[in-house]
Amino acid sequence: MSFQATRMLTPGPTPIPDRVRLAMAAPLPHHRKDAFKTIMHENQDMLKKLFCTEGPVIPLACSGTGAMTASAFNLFEPGEKVLIATAGHFGDRWIDIAKMRGLETAVLRWSAGEAIAPEAVREALDADASIRGVFMQISETSTGVLHPVKDVADITRERDVLLVADGISAVSLSPILMDEWGIDCLLTGSQKGLMLPPGMAFVALSPRAWARAEQVRPTCFYFDLIGERENCAKDQTHYTSPISLMVGLNEALKMLFEYGMDKVFKKQYALMKMARAGAEAMGLELFVKEEKHSTWGLTSICLPEGVKASPVIAKAWKDCSVILTAGQGELKEKVIRLAHMGWVDWADIAAGLHALAYSLPEKPQGAYLEAALEAYHKALAE
Ligand SMILES: Cc1ncc(COP(=O)(O)O)c(C=O)c1O
Repeated sequence: MSFQATRMLTPGPTPIPDRVRLAMAAPLPHHRKDAFKTIMHENQDMLKKLFCTEGPVIPLACSGTGAMTASAFNLFEPGEKVLIATAGHFGDRWIDIAKMRGLETAVLRWSAGEAIAPEAVREALDADASIRGVFMQISETSTGVLHPVKDVADITRERDVLLVADGISAVSLSPILMDEWGIDCLLTGSQKGLMLPPGMAFVALSPRAWARAEQVRPTCFYFDLIGERENCAKDQTHYTSPISLMVGLNEALKMLFEYGMDKVFKKQYALMKMARAGAEAMGLELFVKEEKHSTWGLTSICLPEGVKASPVIAKAWKDCSVILTAGQGELKEKVIRLAHMGWVDWADIAAGLHALAYSLPEKPQGAYLEAALEAYHKALAE
């Protein structure tokens, strides 16, 4: 038994506030009765505000990949061609999902650690007029890159091409203006910025994406967005609702809006600056070189030559009760991901930086905590 607080600094699941945990511990309302419908109604209003969209935000009982699957199956017919802009593990997941749907795929593969250039998306679309959609991540969680989705939307909105954006590690962590930017499908999951346990995902479509969904022959019994939209309008879900998660969501969204999304984003921005400054002051290299392309919910830190991630992660857990995460795929032993999403604050990130420094075979000499905290406070004051 560890006699100290566990700090889960992982890119999902993330720590959950007591207010949300306690709300979920209350007796369950029945999902077809009025008390639950009131919660659903409030959630829908708040989700629309969160997604910055006027259309419904469809809740699904599944993890984030379910929402990705729902978008591919509801927006495209087998045989249609889509462009997958990928720079990492989750981008590659789009390829598998699209193939499972029987879509033809064009792949725009970008260097991990770099933001996909919108111009490259434009060139790929110019080169092939049969492409009906672009799939990409807003934040690629495997590397910590924030992709320029707004700029890609400027390109897709001018054409008959739907932009499907995976915002699983971006929604509620950095600003995303779905309608204003022209994103056609925005999706996220419950276990990251929303400060909830895993198990729920959300999908919102633009009017032209709904029009497309109405034309697509349904071939997926469970992920039927048209059916879910009808139920959503009645403050219901098609099948049994994830009741506790809906109750928790109600509390989490109230917390976010009580505090104010601008302040939530500022905090995320400051935590990103803090993590980057701390790692650099330790003498470590950042995987995402340009700060403007760094996602606000996690920081990928390169390990020195010859140091492997798994023993560092094991020591941080054993001696500091801090859960850090390795990179994914090729980056597995080379990169440590320090996440700063969910119910975490500067003190958790200071603990994360300390756990990392303490667990390296050669202890860093620099005053990394001072540097990190200075960057944090400076960012808040910007
Ligand atoms: C960007 C991104 N996409 C997709 C997923 C997959 O989500 P899930 O594991 O909830 O199915 C994740 C999970 O970490 C993610 O971060």
